[in-house]
Amino acid sequence: MPSPLIAPSILAADFSHLADEIRRVETAGANWLHLDIMDGHFVDNISFGPALVAAVRKQTTLPLDVHLMIEHPDHYLPRFIDAGANLITVHVESEARHDVTTTLRAIRAAHCRAGLSLNPATPFEAVEPFLPELDLLLVMTVHPGFGGQSFRPEMMEKVRRARDWRNARGASLNIEVDGGINADTARLAIDNGANVLVAGTTIFRAPDYGDAISRLRGF
Ligand code: DX5
Ligand code: ZN
Repeated sequence: MPSPLIAPSILAADFSHLADEIRRVETAGANWLHLDIMDGHFVDNISFGPALVAAVRKQTTLPLDVHLMIEHPDHYLPRFIDAGANLITVHVESEARHDVTTTLRAIRAAHCRAGLSLNPATPFEAVEPFLPELDLLLVMTVHPGFGGQSFRPEMMEKVRRARDWRNARGASLNIEVDGGINADTARLAIDNGANVLVAGTTIFRAPDYGDAISRLRGF
């Protein structure tokens, strides 16, 4: 089984030294950077927007994995694409107030990879019709809004269903998990079929980012 891709979530980074933090995780072996965009409507928190994505873009060549936890993501797409996003993930829930197929196609039309995410309370059936249009499925393993929450192991059933769908078709769908990922829960997610791991607290609260990333990979 190939080594999982590690996507540190900069939501947990020290914003006052963000350039240094990006360099540290890049040196530590990160594969992508995960940027959690929160609008205070779709989730009960506000994080950062396209201007910060553009600032991060200048600091690294790592793929930017932009997670839009916002209402009307279609309206804001051009700004995140212009800011340098490589992969944009939107939410399937009706509270995100957009047409999912239209948004996914707009992301790909902009030569950006397209992801779809579902919250813990959202059944897998909600995303199943969209799987053929995806480069990535993001299974939330916490309710979105904040880092440092506890992993919800019952979400592994969704990861298995995505894995079975992918394997049955030989599809290249990436399966990403996000929330409460540490060395133990990473193992569980990988064993169930995830190949991309988002981790904020586990990495940015660690004394050694390289050791933290290696432990997520299972070394
Ligand atoms: C939560 C975000 C997650 C979060 C992960 O809404 O989507 O990416 O930053 O944080 P940890 O790894 O600290 O649980
Ligand atoms: Zn996220």
